[in-house]
Amino acid sequence: LKSILRCCTLRCGIRNSASPRQKSFLVTSQWYPEVLMDRGRTGLEPWKIAVIVVSAIAGAALIIGLITFFLCRDQDRYYNASFLITNVDYKSQYERQTTEEFRDLSQEIETMVSEVFKGSFLSKRYIKCHVVSLSPDPAGVLASVVLVFKFASSDSKTTSWGRVHRVLRRRLTTSSNSLNVDLSTLSVAELNKEKGDDLLNNCCGIRKQQFSFTGVERIIGGQRARDGEWPWQASIQLDGTHRCGASVISNTWLVTAAHCFRGVRNPRRWTASFGILLRPPKQRKRVRKIIVHEKYCDFVLDHEYDVAVVELDPPIEFTSDVHSVCLPEATHVFPENTSCFVTGWGAMKNDGYSVNQLRQAEVKIISTEVCNKRHVYGGAITPGMLCAGYLEGQVDACQGDSGGPLVTVNSRGIWYLVGIVSWGDECGKRNKPGVYTRVTYYRNWIASKTGI
Ligand code: ARG
Repeated sequence: LKSILRCCTLRCGIRNSASPRQKSFLVTSQWYPEVLMDRGRTGLEPWKIAVIVVSAIAGAALIIGLITFFLCRDQDRYYNASFLITNVDYKSQYERQTTEEFRDLSQEIETMVSEVFKGSFLSKRYIKCHVVSLSPDPAGVLASVVLVFKFASSDSKTTSWGRVHRVLRRRLTTSSNSLNVDLSTLSVAELNKEKGDDLLNNCCGIRKQQFSFTGVERIIGGQRARDGEWPWQASIQLDGTHRCGASVISNTWLVTAAHCFRGVRNPRRWTASFGILLRPPKQRKRVRKIIVHEKYCDFVLDHEYDVAVVELDPPIEFTSDVHSVCLPEATHVFPENTSCFVTGWGAMKNDGYSVNQLRQAEVKIISTEVCNKRHVYGGAITPGMLCAGYLEGQVDACQGDSGGPLVTVNSRGIWYLVGIVSWGDECGKRNKPGVYTRVTYYRNWIASKTGI
């Protein structure tokens, strides 16, 4: 060390060329010569050298590791692609995402695009394709899709864009699909994450990750929901206390059960919160208007017309954890035995307390014919209601889940609102499944009040 310092002193000429201020520092510094002398006398012990070498190697390894981690880390990249399909005529049903026509054509397009990427060198990078709009064109239908890929952060944006564009251009027409794509209309634009998420979050009924379910469980003692799993779930609160569940159907409208407002219809006492935890919620909004079905009656206990819509002010900010579910068409039929999920903060036993973290349970649709049998509900189920659960009991919604969603997913991975938690004879009892307001039955009523 001594010789290094001497050499440095000579080479840099510190002492000779130092300014008067530097000189005075060199002269007055007590510490400097002491250190020099001490080190000069004893030298570094071998173990110290070993420690220094090992720490230097560890430090370097850490830095290299961090650099590789950041460069090779996968990053979601979003693209908006649009192209003209020439062998399909535009129909007015394509205007709305929830029509059967929109769903069928979108599914065909998504399958075609998925096949294109899965059969290409980008197969490992490709995540998904989602049709966001189908618009009219004199020559057919103009499809706009959002594409999501996982690229390494070190891949430049232009290179990744070029690869996506190239694969689409080369393979879209050669794919074995029945759709004819006019390649001269193809355009691909990179979207930033915010814009990409925005476009996807504005589509109803999608959720970001695919969550897997671990069998059949009940809200009672059942499975807790994870962030973003049921983004349309809302809590309707009276004076700040959870009263009912609700479903987000647009950024200003919720749909829920009419009986939630029994006795209190003044919107100023109600708020809605979002996110899987009641406390703290992800968002909270004021209620501007409550529209209860005109034919619903608090005093008649037949549970008919148990539907209401709630307008919020200000609107919800859609994120991947908070956005809307799709409403089915009035004509849609959900067959018996369809697997559905019911979610809520309701009690885990009959007459129990609400919970802070959202819970979910898988239930199956039971036909009205079976549900109206004498040993079940003996004729109390009307066309505006739907039963779901199990005749053996155990899995069910319960108090505090009312107004909340009963949903099912279609083959495109889109979630639809099938029912609204309405009533039941206690919870999870044998031969007493949950009874829900049938959404398709009130679909036109909901549209007439909300325009959705
Ligand atoms: N009416 C109850 C509520 O206000 C919901 C009952 C649902 N019951 C059932 N067994 N599925 O929260």
